[in-house]
Amino acid sequence: MSAVQAEASTPIILADRLSKVYAAGKIMVAAVREVSFSVQPGEFVAIVGPSGSGKSTLFYLLGGLTKASDGRVLIDGVDFATLSDAERTRLRRRRIGFVFQKFNLLPTLSAIANVEIAYQISGRKEPMDRRYLEHLSDLLSIRGRLNHRPSELSGGEQQRVAIARALVTRPAIVLADEPTGNLDTKNSDAVLKMLVRSNQELGQTTLMITHNPEAAAIAGRILHMRDGEIVRIEAGSGNFGGAAEVSPAAGGGIPAV
Ligand SMILES: Nc1ncnc2c1ncn2[C@@H]1O[C@H](COP(=O)(O)OP(=O)(O)OP(=O)(O)O)[C@@H](O)[C@H]1O
Ligand SMILES: [Mg+2]
Repeated sequence: MSAVQAEASTPIILADRLSKVYAAGKIMVAAVREVSFSVQPGEFVAIVGPSGSGKSTLFYLLGGLTKASDGRVLIDGVDFATLSDAERTRLRRRRIGFVFQKFNLLPTLSAIANVEIAYQISGRKEPMDRRYLEHLSDLLSIRGRLNHRPSELSGGEQQRVAIARALVTRPAIVLADEPTGNLDTKNSDAVLKMLVRSNQELGQTTLMITHNPEAAAIAGRILHMRDGEIVRIEAGSGNFGGAAEVSPAAGGGIPAV
């Protein structure tokens, strides 16, 4: 096999018999049990399953935010377990954009400052693309809310700020845990369109956890979880009608302002 072929077939994410057991007092909770799957660069994968089935735990494992009890996670062929804490943090910040189920916005900072600080710690050399942020903010209908602190924003607005924060770095991998969980239909559609478009235009690899079957259907593949295991893999449509443009249209190229 040529080097090119080998490279093309390297999954960007590989979960290999991944398990996570939580100790809750004397009780051990097997939240994720020997889960194996791989994701190719540019794929859009949805993860669905009942509450408590281990979706968020899998999200934390794949993002290197918690250590596996057993098994391995490889990102770009690199096993998280072989990295030091500092190296793992660097890999995560450079490669992955997270949208957390509970948003994880810093309460003392305004929405815009939350985005800026996340951009800074991502370690990117180029300055944040303000035009791109404005564009994302328009699509997410949060432009007028960016100077407010999280406590002054609705749950849905906080969620959309968290999405802008994850996407503004144009990460290779987007991990999104219930990104439409707090949104009405209109905003939910806007977020889904944005994720699809960003996946298509930027070649991003997207993993989206969702309870919403309509949201899951836009993915290319749908992984069904139950009791910590992937019990079924289904093909999705891989599309969302009329997805909104992610790149600002004017001028084509995106200037670094
Ligand atoms: N820190 C923890 N300590 C102990 N048990 C935990 C911990 N976090 C999660 N669990 C348990 O692990 C299991 C999986 O939880 P997880 O949060 O991954 O589920 P989920 O599929 O994301 O659910 P939801 O749809 O409600 O967000 C649940 O039984 C949960 O109670
Ligand atoms: Mg969850």
